[in-house]
Amino acid sequence: MSDTHAVVPNDLAAFWMPFTANRQFKKSPRMFVAAKDMHYTSADGRQVLDATSGLWCVNAGHCRPKITEAVQKQVAELDFAPTFQLGHPKAFELANQLASMAPAGLEHVLFSNSGSEAVETALKLALAYQRARGEGGRFRLIGRERGYHGVNFGGISVGGILPNRKMFGTLLTGVDHLPHTHDIARNAWSKGMPPHGLELADELDRIIALHDASTIAAVIVEPVAGSTGVLIPPKGYLQKLRDTCTKHGILLIFDEVITGFGRLGTPFAADYFGVIPDIMITAKGLTNGVIPMGAVLTTAKIHDTFMHGPEHLIEFFHGYTYSGNPMAAAAGLATLETYRDEQLLTRGAELASYWENALHSLKGTRHVIDVRNIGLIGAIELEPMAGLPTKRTFSAFIEAFEKGLLIRTTGDIIALSPPLIVQKSHIDQIVEMLSDILNGLE
Ligand SMILES: Cc1ncc(COP(=O)(O)O)c(C=O)c1O
Repeated sequence: MSDTHAVVPNDLAAFWMPFTANRQFKKSPRMFVAAKDMHYTSADGRQVLDATSGLWCVNAGHCRPKITEAVQKQVAELDFAPTFQLGHPKAFELANQLASMAPAGLEHVLFSNSGSEAVETALKLALAYQRARGEGGRFRLIGRERGYHGVNFGGISVGGILPNRKMFGTLLTGVDHLPHTHDIARNAWSKGMPPHGLELADELDRIIALHDASTIAAVIVEPVAGSTGVLIPPKGYLQKLRDTCTKHGILLIFDEVITGFGRLGTPFAADYFGVIPDIMITAKGLTNGVIPMGAVLTTAKIHDTFMHGPEHLIEFFHGYTYSGNPMAAAAGLATLETYRDEQLLTRGAELASYWENALHSLKGTRHVIDVRNIGLIGAIELEPMAGLPTKRTFSAFIEAFEKGLLIRTTGDIIALSPPLIVQKSHIDQIVEMLSDILNGLE
């Protein structure tokens, strides 16, 4: 392991790290220098079991050979090709494969470089579509409290996480929010979809009554809210949103950045819940986290609405230098192949009940006030320390890292989302380690 030490820099000042307690980190850094399958290797040579798929993205596990080889080959063969008025085959091939595996009707694909950019793409597409079909008065976007849609202005405007919003001025105008669906009092310890809260979908009717449907372009939600700490939709909730949107000519956007690519034991959450949006946002697992990429899928109806006028004119004024970049496209194709070869997109369904039982065995563990789960997602909510919200989970995170387990924490919630190659023995290990850590915490 001595050569891994050599790659650790001795000055950590310049990199202002994202979503990080920078001063704490730089006093006692936590570095990874390698990864394989279910494990990271830390700079001091320890194996760290990855219970979060990196950051909800390494769904096929780390350093998978097909993906590595595809990227290596691509960089030597065609490094960059513009996709403005030009193309290269792999971007089209990836779009075709995505369209063919997506829920019925989602047939066209716009590429971006991240989930945040995919969100902006989706919101702009929704507004532009409404205008293109002669409904330009529909300028409002409806998000949800506690929603996370990345960090760009559109995303934080429709998102509902306070610290992500409060520092950044007026945000987008014309945005309103549905209430979140978290209800520990009624739904604690639920397995899968919680029984209570269907009526929260009726809040969309209230918002429509307030603003009028003719001013609303789209509703955007995460089918399962991830970053806020895993909020699973109450039974029937998403279908109700779908019905209300359809009735009022409002587009429904699902942000599947974390739920996409097998996380719930189906290719997409739309498949799991049997509810199909008009626009679906993906990223993360699309390339197994290897090369940044996002993709927005939409219907022929929306796409075709733009396909008018003289053919030499651009139909939709939007795109990124790297939309459909060759390396990302190669990584995406190899990732989808790996998912297919190993049937990873449905593996979560086979493991879901084992996962559920293992996590719920933590009921009764010190500090734990709720456990919830769906597919291969889990959340353990802790009683916050008096006057010090998030401190207890932060301590759990540090302790876990030191003991060889990577978890993700948000607020006073531990969120778990292991790679889809996880074995039952890993699940046992995750739960045993968590139990030890929580029992030992202040
Ligand atoms: C639901 C959702 N949307 C958007 C994003 C933003 O993705 P990115 O960090 O790739 O910009 C995330 C990231 O966690 C997410 O969970």
